[in-house]
Amino acid sequence: MSKRSIRVFSPATVANVVCGFDILGFAVNEPGDELYMELCDEPGVVIASIEGDEGKLPLDPDKNTVSACVKSILRHLGKEDLGVKLKLTKKMPLGSGLGSSSASAVAGIFAINELLGRPLTKHELLPFAMEGEALACGHGHADNVAPALFGGFTLIKSYEPLEVIQLPVPDLYCALLYPHVDVPTRDARQIIRSKVALKDAVVQWGNIAGLVSALYQHDYDLLGRSMKDVIVEPVRSILIPEFDSMKQQALANGALGFGISGSGPTVFSLYRNKEDAEKVLNQLKAFLKEKGIESNIYLSKVNSEGPVVLE
Ligand code: HSE
Repeated sequence: MSKRSIRVFSPATVANVVCGFDILGFAVNEPGDELYMELCDEPGVVIASIEGDEGKLPLDPDKNTVSACVKSILRHLGKEDLGVKLKLTKKMPLGSGLGSSSASAVAGIFAINELLGRPLTKHELLPFAMEGEALACGHGHADNVAPALFGGFTLIKSYEPLEVIQLPVPDLYCALLYPHVDVPTRDARQIIRSKVALKDAVVQWGNIAGLVSALYQHDYDLLGRSMKDVIVEPVRSILIPEFDSMKQQALANGALGFGISGSGPTVFSLYRNKEDAEKVLNQLKAFLKEKGIESNIYLSKVNSEGPVVLE
């Protein structure tokens, strides 16, 4: 164990990618969280500070996603006596559909694994990050944590047993717009119908298969045509003001596809070039402002690395 401290970055993620509810996701280069972790002599995991959360996240190590994941890994490795101090800097809004809790959980498990000399592989780390997701939003889905941990585009082929497939990373820009409205993941999950009509399922299967094929063939027109959701988006989009209008504007101005990021309210769209993405983002931000809704915008390439060591 050479290093005693580490600072890491962990990326935000876009889960579902329109048609792949709970199974598809990709990471972005911006925004993301930063975590400083230090090994210390006093046993136990302690959160020394959290910045950027407006005081909303718990400092109690058993209730906080990052510390709970780290504790769980230490327990698994039989190193519960280790002392760990954490300083988390949130660089993205909470509860926004950008995988905020996943980014933090992944930062924690990645950092402790690095400090301990990488005893676990990324595949072995994944269930620990899912525990954090369950703690944060009541359901341990992996479509945010997997891309945050592996980087790139991931497919959850199955949950039981957990099987994650890394898909080819598209060379595209992702535009994210977070409107300042409240859509908690728990609520956004509760409004989805639990039964699906077979005819809708057939459309959805076609789109998921089309999207995955598009990634392998680097066929971005097919990717755009496959970013359609007849099951979840029609219900959830009601919670996002001006969703249909924003979608129309984006698709008319160069977006390959447009949809809800995770459970919302952030919306995302994918572009071949940066100029189109910038233009649409600014247009949508101004459009929402006219309607009295403030928003944050982010633009970056699809991320291919996952978490990285900063120092
Ligand atoms: N797949 C999850 C959902 C992601 O849509 O509820 C939550 O960010």
